[in-house]
Amino acid sequence: MATMADVARSAGVSVATVSHVLNGTRPVLPHTRQAVLDAVDALGYTPNTLARSLVTSRTRSIGLAVSAISNPYFTEILQGVESAALEAGYSLLIADPHDDPGHERKVVQLLHERRVDGMIVAPSAHPHDLVGYLRRHAVPTVFLDRVIDAGVLNASATGGGTGAVPGESAPWYDQVCADSADPTARLVTHLAGLGHRRIGLVAGLPGLSTTDERVSGYQDGLSAAGLAHDERLLVSGNSESAGAEQATAALLALPEPPTALVTANNAMTIGALRALRRHGLSVPDDIALCCFDDFAWADLFSPRLTAVAQPSRELGAQAVQVLLNRLDEPRRPARTVRLPCTFVHRTSCGCPEEPGRSRTPEHTDSPMSSTLSEKGTTS
Ligand code: HPA
Repeated sequence: MATMADVARSAGVSVATVSHVLNGTRPVLPHTRQAVLDAVDALGYTPNTLARSLVTSRTRSIGLAVSAISNPYFTEILQGVESAALEAGYSLLIADPHDDPGHERKVVQLLHERRVDGMIVAPSAHPHDLVGYLRRHAVPTVFLDRVIDAGVLNASATGGGTGAVPGESAPWYDQVCADSADPTARLVTHLAGLGHRRIGLVAGLPGLSTTDERVSGYQDGLSAAGLAHDERLLVSGNSESAGAEQATAALLALPEPPTALVTANNAMTIGALRALRRHGLSVPDDIALCCFDDFAWADLFSPRLTAVAQPSRELGAQAVQVLLNRLDEPRRPARTVRLPCTFVHRTSCGCPEEPGRSRTPEHTDSPMSSTLSEKGTTS
């Protein structure tokens, strides 16, 4: 097997120059660079990344831990992470923590033991052990999708590691997420504008920031529309289809059921639609429906689903960028990057198909918060 020294000899340059060309660590004259690449080609040289890691203490790899990888939302996030990582010359090690705190802690430790340079994690609803582990081992970390409030984490910690170190005022981790509250409020006010007075929310798993933010967006939307808050209309579908099917059935069994429904993620939309079909109800004639999460088949449903689209690929790509910035500059202040969502107006809300508007591309609003906001996280 050809070595770096063979390449250097064949190209007539030093081993250091070969290394600079292959690792991009220093500019090299174009003709020298070409001579090295030609020699690499001719000799069939492949770099030994394990040997390089021993020298640099870097593996040029990123650990990614996200639950429900088969959910299209997370699959698209994964695609965004993968292509951004590849472009930066990093490979990925992937694990699915199944939204289980014990499993999450275990898979993150396994990724860390493989010496990934940093980690991108969508944390579970109870991430104390996870956060404690990452903090103790000083793993450069980006929390993705679900954000963690270090103050809340500390207040509720029963011991062990927490998000912020005692006496440390700012968290040490970065975060990337999508807006959740305003887009949910937008779905509610849209339905209220169509005359609905009883709007139900099928919310996600308690403890996830995305759930809390969508619930508060729902409440903000009701307030903005001057509607009463009837707590019986707010049910939990636990972020999954079966839970949402049950929760929707409970809403339909109320003495005064809702006339419109908001589902807080794609899986729960499926569950809600199952429950509506089981009850012989049609959308939007019997009950209107708006959902959080757009997905590839949302416009194949009849009626076509009015939805909030999350920038899922972009979330993945941003998470990589934020992690690479952290690796380049370990002492930079922690930040939370929030990306805007888009309102995709179709017909499950009860609005008619707009004449003259082609079915594709969709009628989309510009992103709901028009700027990418970057806030320093506070604990
Ligand atoms: N977070 C945000 N959006 C989602 C999720 C989630 O866990 N699942 C499906 N859409």
